[in-house]
Parts: sequence; C-alpha cells; structure tokens
Amino acid sequence: MIIAIDGPAAAGKGTLARRIAAALGLPYLDTGLLYRAVGRRVLDTGADPADVEAATAAARSLTEADFQRSDLRGPEADKAASQVASIPAVRAALLDYQRHYGATKGAVLDGRDIGTIVFPHADVKLFVTASLEARTQRRHAEILGRGEATSIDAVRADLAARDEADRTRAAAPLKPAHDATLFDTSEMDADMAFAKALLLVKSKTSSF
Ligand code: DC
Repeated sequence: MIIAIDGPAAAGKGTLARRIAAALGLPYLDTGLLYRAVGRRVLDTGADPADVEAATAAARSLTEADFQRSDLRGPEADKAASQVASIPAVRAALLDYQRHYGATKGAVLDGRDIGTIVFPHADVKLFVTASLEARTQRRHAEILGRGEATSIDAVRADLAARDEADRTRAAAPLKPAHDATLFDTSEMDADMAFAKALLLVKSKTSSF
C-alpha cells in the first residue's frame, strides 16, 4: 500500500505521515530530507545550491549517512533544499530511490510531488494544507523549541517565499494531484488532524 501525503511547508504533513505510518505498520519516508541532504552537500563544497552541475553531482552521490546529519533543518537548509529541488536533474536522480523505497512493504511518503510524479497510482493521496498564518505559528514554535532565535515576520516571509518557489517551478511543482483529497489542518491540533486523517485513510483502504 502506498500513501502519498503532499502539501506546503509546515502544514503538518510530516507529523501526520509519521503517525499514519506507525498506525498502519508501514515504513515512512520524509522525501524533503533527500532535497535537504542534497542542499547541504552542495553548501559543504562552497558551491551555490542553484548551480545545476554541483547540485546534480551531489544528488547522484547521496548516501544514507547524508540523511542522518543534524544540520538538515533551519533557514539555510530550507532555502538550499528548495533551490536544488527546482533542478530537474536533481529530481530525476532522487526518483528511483523514492520509488524503490515502497516497493516491497509499501510506504507512507510525504513531500510535494508524491501523488503527482513519484507515485501517480498511490492507493491514497492526501494534500495537506493550512493557512499561512497557522503554518507560521507552528514553524515559529518549532524553531524556538530547538532553542534558535527568530521572529514571526521572518518565519512568515521564509514560508511564503519557499511556497511560491515550490508552486511556480517548472519541474514537479507543488500542486494537488487531480485525485487527491484536500485536508486543511488550520483549525486542528496535531492529535485531531491525526485522528481525522487516519479515518480518511482507513475509509479509502477498507478494501485492502
Ligand atoms: O518538506 P520539506 O520542507 O522538508 O522540503 C524541503 C524542500 O524540498 C521544499 O522546499 C521542497 C522540496 N521538496 C520537493 O520539491 N519535493 C519533495 N517531494 C519534497 C521536498
């Protein structure tokens, strides 16, 4: 069973996907981490994450150890990930890994193009959204929780800029698959979102 969970940054899709995977006994892949790891590798070399050659070389040489790094979150990693994610050759280099991931046991994957490109025939597709304000509050709390300093305005501006870049890029832009269920978490806390999403997933997979 493949469950595709897409949506903009800080909509709550990662938390939801992880909990749904645990409830159903499926492996979980946070595909954003792949782009974050590529961005980090490019930054390590001193190159610009928008540099097509540097980013493509980094994507082709990723190893599992790159996903374990402790510096894959935060504004610098966010921006670098979004930049490398707009490069078609980077996306192509990461496609097989994502497709093979769910091949034997099924999986829950979250990202931007899981239901549109990576698994267009996924069994369940959720497009998780929330208002910019709700997402800003959540991301702000998350950053403060890590002990880092930031302002609400900076977080809002970062999210809006990244969403705009992810939505308007030519390669696999962020958009709901035509057969995805829209799931707006603006008015829900994490527990309510999980309970409702799990019911939704179960109703769509009752024939499994
Ligand atoms: O989900 P995230 O915030 O960790 O993703 C980081 C960046 O990677 C985001 O700006 C968009 C990009 N991304 C993507 O283009 N496709 C995916 N499947 C996952 C993430």
